[in-house]
Amino acid sequence: FIKKLSTIAAAASVAALTVSAPALAKNFKIAVGDSGGSSQEATGLAFIENLEELSGGNHTATLFLNGQLGSEQDTVNDAAIGSLDMSLLAINNVTPFSPSVGVFTLPYVILSLEDAETLTQGPIGQQLTENTINDAGVRIIAWTYTGFRVLTNSKKPVKSVADLQGLVIRVPKNEIMIDTYKSWGISPTPMAWSETFAGLQTKVVDGQDNPYTTINAMKFYEVQKYVTNIRYIFSIEPLVVSEAVFQELSAEDQAIVLEAGKAATQASAQFLRDKEAEIKQILIDKGMQIDDPENNEQEFIDLATAAVWPKFYESIGGVEKLNEVLAAIGRDPV
Ligand code: MLT
Repeated sequence: FIKKLSTIAAAASVAALTVSAPALAKNFKIAVGDSGGSSQEATGLAFIENLEELSGGNHTATLFLNGQLGSEQDTVNDAAIGSLDMSLLAINNVTPFSPSVGVFTLPYVILSLEDAETLTQGPIGQQLTENTINDAGVRIIAWTYTGFRVLTNSKKPVKSVADLQGLVIRVPKNEIMIDTYKSWGISPTPMAWSETFAGLQTKVVDGQDNPYTTINAMKFYEVQKYVTNIRYIFSIEPLVVSEAVFQELSAEDQAIVLEAGKAATQASAQFLRDKEAEIKQILIDKGMQIDDPENNEQEFIDLATAAVWPKFYESIGGVEKLNEVLAAIGRDPV
């Protein structure tokens, strides 16, 4: 009921902008990196539902799941030149094009869903949205919250940094993540997301990290056995619209798209709260073994924060930017 009320309120604020002629019907193409059942899909479906409702059925959108429209990083380029309308992808795959969003990928900065909501929905999220428009030609219109990226591998239980040695771990092509594994003493293998399942299946790599929901949606339990509950990155996955496409919309349609994005963000947080525990249990039922790191992960935390944070101060906008982020979530400055 509350959702209904907020949808009606949003529709009313959009109606205030109404122009006389109905806008040309749109069917936005949305590239989605993950498969059905993922939190990316849940955000996409919520966006479509709200877009249709707010536009009185005039506009819709179609999801192209499972990287059908290219690797996540490639979709950023396609959206930048306007050949793709929208993309749903992990924030770590936006960072190479707009380095300041790396503040959300710095290890052990975001420590809960609530931290992620505070940061993305507040002034810091707004600033990063402006940065991605300028740097990468895409505008963030919704945020997906997918949970902590846990480590999986096919070879052995990993509970300590020592256990990690000798494993070949796939990471996205993201310097912060590469350097985090280096701080733990191994040299990871950067690989596009669209190639990762095959890489694990053919044993080119032994392991990777992604949230429970993603591991389940992508059926990684077929090729991975061991899970370690590291919590170095809380996965945030924006829905971005090509800025070129957005600027071609009428003011009324822009407002509809932004409002539908806000509703999708709320739906995503609810999806994670409702589903994460259930999905963790599915992974156990599928035969995965889930372990916690020793000593509350302290060794992983100490090594990563000492080596990685200072190295990326410049690219995220200075140590002041990190301190602004830490202050927003009630943590002490560095
Ligand atoms: C990646 O590991 O490249 C991404 O986090 C995958 C995803 O979008 O789920």
